[in-house]
Amino acid sequence: MTQGAKIKEIVPLGGRESASRCARCRRGGGDPDRHAGLFRRLPEVSVRHNAIARKGTANAVSGGSAAPAAREKSPVPGTSDLVSVVNCRYVAVKAATTVVAADSSMADRVYLDWNATTPLRQEAKAAIAAAWELIGNPSSVHSEGRRARRLVEDARNAVARAVGGRPQDVVFLSGGTEANALALTPGLRRAAGAPVQRLLVSAIEHASVLAGGRFATEATAAIHVTRAGVIDLNHLRALLADGPPALVSVMLANNETGAIQPVADVAAIVHAAGGLLHVDAIQAFGKIPFDLASTQADLVTLSAHKIGGPKGAGALVLAEGVEGLVAFLRGGGQELGRRAGTENIAGIAGFGAAAKAAMAVLKADAARVRGLRDRLEHGLRQTPDVLVFSDDVKRLPNTVLFTAPGMKAETAVIGFDLGGIAVSSGSACSSGKVQPSHVLEAMGYRSEVSQGAVRLSLGWSTTETDVDLTLKAWRKLADTLVKGERRNTA
Ligand SMILES: Cc1ncc(COP(=O)(O)O)c(C=O)c1O
Repeated sequence: MTQGAKIKEIVPLGGRESASRCARCRRGGGDPDRHAGLFRRLPEVSVRHNAIARKGTANAVSGGSAAPAAREKSPVPGTSDLVSVVNCRYVAVKAATTVVAADSSMADRVYLDWNATTPLRQEAKAAIAAAWELIGNPSSVHSEGRRARRLVEDARNAVARAVGGRPQDVVFLSGGTEANALALTPGLRRAAGAPVQRLLVSAIEHASVLAGGRFATEATAAIHVTRAGVIDLNHLRALLADGPPALVSVMLANNETGAIQPVADVAAIVHAAGGLLHVDAIQAFGKIPFDLASTQADLVTLSAHKIGGPKGAGALVLAEGVEGLVAFLRGGGQELGRRAGTENIAGIAGFGAAAKAAMAVLKADAARVRGLRDRLEHGLRQTPDVLVFSDDVKRLPNTVLFTAPGMKAETAVIGFDLGGIAVSSGSACSSGKVQPSHVLEAMGYRSEVSQGAVRLSLGWSTTETDVDLTLKAWRKLADTLVKGERRNTA
């Protein structure tokens, strides 16, 4: 911490949970539960008696002027402006905003926007840090280059294993958006099959699929979904019957409702009609088990930042025998000519490590998170007339999209935020402006309903306390909503 820095506040370490504990306090008979979830949410730091150190360093972060117990500790370059322990009961939070302040802000907040992005897993962070130390270009033949190559190929193996693919069929890209764009290529085919000439996408796809890749707008059509947000297989059959071989793109799970799509049934229909199936599995990855065999997909899109990997890394995985992919970026022969350009080795390494870690804990995490989601949903439903979208079909274990009469998503998101809870409106808003949800529209909801949809999505570090705090914030919000409704109808 910079010397003379101002302490913003001193917060008690009480109550939330006791995941990280100071060993000395525990031994000394202190109250370890005082070491709240605060520390668990600060992946940058580890906790010791009267000191917080940045992980990987032996140094304590110094206390500021309001931190007498820690004042004598010397400043640590590079670990500035985070937090310092006053004693084992209190933490001082410094006012300045820094690189790590974003993490520290999670300490006293509840993050329920995991479908938008996830925090970095420790495994990913370590892999990224190790990759930064490498100087070689993975295409170089010397020892430095080979070391970087090994890192890329290890990650490729991990991602391939996670979805039951072959390493040589994994193409690393800048994220899910690029993978979707690359997948939607006219001319794709199975070795002996006819090339696809048109594109059919479900109406609830992510914007990066709805954009159609390299298909002309006239060669693209939307497949209807049911009121529950599940693809209408009869409409798919009708569309396939009426034209040349098609590439069909259907997501495995929807990012807004969490509704899981029957992709194996879709694959059977598409293949019988001589087409190919692309599955955007970004939201399902790490949340439910699946692989190329169970989905029968020809191409699968993955994104690192939804599973605890870094933002800006993703992959397209091809099933064996799929041909005709045409690179967007040409030049070097990287990624077997499917994506030119020196590899983002830190991003790729982080992606591989996150994939490995996510797969190792998938089943246990999914069961735990489902329990929390159900508790949350049960609590929400105590408010009269709460509507949970897609609650009558299979859903991701971590997602609840809901609305209530009179609710405006924009207002509710801000209300939750002020209450310390990060949530999102059903319709993700990359522009910062909430747009009506095309997903709910496709499901047949009027815009007054869809504009009130709020998405709560949980993840591996979500706790029961988080759920209870969210419900507390919701009850407050719901009160104001009901009052507003009464005013409007008076
Ligand atoms: C279903 C789905 N597809 C694609 C994307 C885009 O992925 P990325 O953010 O890696 O570009 C997202 C991200 O929100 C998503 O949820």
